[in-house]
Amino acid sequence: SSGVRRGPDGALTVAGVDVRELAAAQGTPAYVLDEADLRERARSYRRAFEAAFAEVGAGVDVYYAGKAFLSVAVARWVRAEGLRVDTATGGELAVALRADVPGEHIGLHGNNKSDAEIVRALEAGVGRIIVDSLAEVERVAAASRARGGVPAPVMIRVTTGVHAGGHEYISTAHEDQKFGLSLATAPDAQAEDSPAMTALLAVLAHPELELLGIHSHIGSQILDPSGFEVAARKVLELRAALAERTGFLVPEVDLGGGYGIAYLPGEVALDPDRIAKDVAASVAASSADLGTPLPRFSIEPGRAIVGPAGLTLYTVGTVKPVRVGGAAGDGEAESTTVRTYVSIDGGMSDNIRPALYGANYHAELANRLSDAAPVLARVVGKHCESGDIVVHDVLLPGDVRAGDLLAVAATGAYGRSMASNYNHVPRPPVVAVTDGGTRVLIRRETEDDLLALDLG
Ligand code: LLP
Repeated sequence: SSGVRRGPDGALTVAGVDVRELAAAQGTPAYVLDEADLRERARSYRRAFEAAFAEVGAGVDVYYAGKAFLSVAVARWVRAEGLRVDTATGGELAVALRADVPGEHIGLHGNNKSDAEIVRALEAGVGRIIVDSLAEVERVAAASRARGGVPAPVMIRVTTGVHAGGHEYISTAHEDQKFGLSLATAPDAQAEDSPAMTALLAVLAHPELELLGIHSHIGSQILDPSGFEVAARKVLELRAALAERTGFLVPEVDLGGGYGIAYLPGEVALDPDRIAKDVAASVAASSADLGTPLPRFSIEPGRAIVGPAGLTLYTVGTVKPVRVGGAAGDGEAESTTVRTYVSIDGGMSDNIRPALYGANYHAELANRLSDAAPVLARVVGKHCESGDIVVHDVLLPGDVRAGDLLAVAATGAYGRSMASNYNHVPRPPVVAVTDGGTRVLIRRETEDDLLALDLG
C-alpha cells in the first residue's frame, strides 16, 4: 500500500506501525489492511468516474465488489466514501446489512441464487438483483409476487463475447461459461431473439419486476481498457434495440468490475482517471451514434479498491537451498542453479491465487535491511503440497533466516476472501492499520474454532 515505508532501522512500517510490533502483538501470518490507502482508492474511483461521466452528462454509481474482501468495517469505510456494495451471496449480503449499508445501495449477484437469498434481498429492499438466467426471471417474479409489494428492481446480466483480463478462469464474458445471457444466437436455432433480448422481454412482461438495467462484467485483472468500451457499445446497442422494439429505454447500464492492479514492482495499474475518461467518451459517442440518450451507469471494482491496500506478514521458518537444473552429481557446478526455498508459516490456505491462477507476487524482507548478496528464492507455504507456492521467484537477501518477517504485497483482494482451512490451518486475522494504530477487523481463527465444527 502507499502507507508502506522503511523505518530508521530498516524495518517496514505500514501507516506508521512497525511490522515487528504488529507481528509480536498479532502473530503471523496476518493480513494487514491500510485503511487510509483503501479509502483513498475508493474515493479516487468514485471521483474519477463521477467527474468523467458528468462531463458527458451521465450519472454513475460505484459499487464495491465485496467478493474481493468484505468485513463489516470495510463495508462501513466504502460507504463513508460514497460507494455502494455489490454482493454475490446471502453471506456477503448479511455482512453489508450488518454494516448498516442501506438496502437500496446494495446489489445482489449470483448465477445460482437460492430462493432464500432472493427473498432475503427483497426483504432488505436491495437496489437491484442482477438476474443471470431466464429461470431466475421467473423465480424473482414469483418471490416478488408472494410478497405482494413493490416491483423488484432487476438488471439482466449479459455476456458480450468480450474476453478480457488475466487468467481464463477469471475472464467471464466469453461464451462457453456459466455467467449471464448471451447477446449472440440462442442455443435453440429456432429462436429469433438472443437469450439476452429474451430475458429483457420476459422482465418487461412481469408487473412484479422493474427492469432497471443491463449488466456486463467482462473479466478481472484487466490491464487493457479497450474491452470495456467494446462491451459497453454492445450493451448500448442491445438497449437501443429493446427501445426500438418496445419503446422502453432501460435506465441503467452496469459495466462491471475488473480494473487491474500492480502486483509486482514496475507493473502499472489501470489509472481510474484515464479509464473513466476513455469509457465516458466512448459511451457518449456510442449513444450519439445510436440516437439514444445516455443511461445512468454503474461500475463494480473490487480488487482495485482493496488489493493494493493489503499485505500479508509471514514468519520465515525452514530455509533450504535446492539445486535445480543439471543432473545431480554430474559435477558441472557452473551449469546448475540453486534455488533457496524459504518456507513461511502460511501458504496456499491464505493465498490460493498463485496455485490457482499462476499469479505472481512480490515478497520483501520486512523486519530488517540486509546487505547480504541476493539469492534466487521461492517463498513456499507449510501445506502438504508442492504447488503450495506464494511467490515463485524473488530475490531475497542471502542471509534470510528463521524468525525473519516477510511481507507479501498486494494481497488485500481475493486473499482472505478465498482462504481455506486446508490441513486444519486456522485462517489468519485481518488487522487494520490507521494513523499509527491497529485494530483487528477479523480475529485469527483458533484450533478450537475448527474443532467446534467437528461433532465427533
Ligand atoms: N462484478 C462482477 C459481476 C464480478 O463477477 C466481479 C468479479 C467483480 C465485479 C469484481 O471484479 P474485480 O474488480 O475485483 O476484478 N478470484 C479471482 C477474481 C474473480 C473475480 C470474479 N468476479 C482472483 O483472485 O483473481
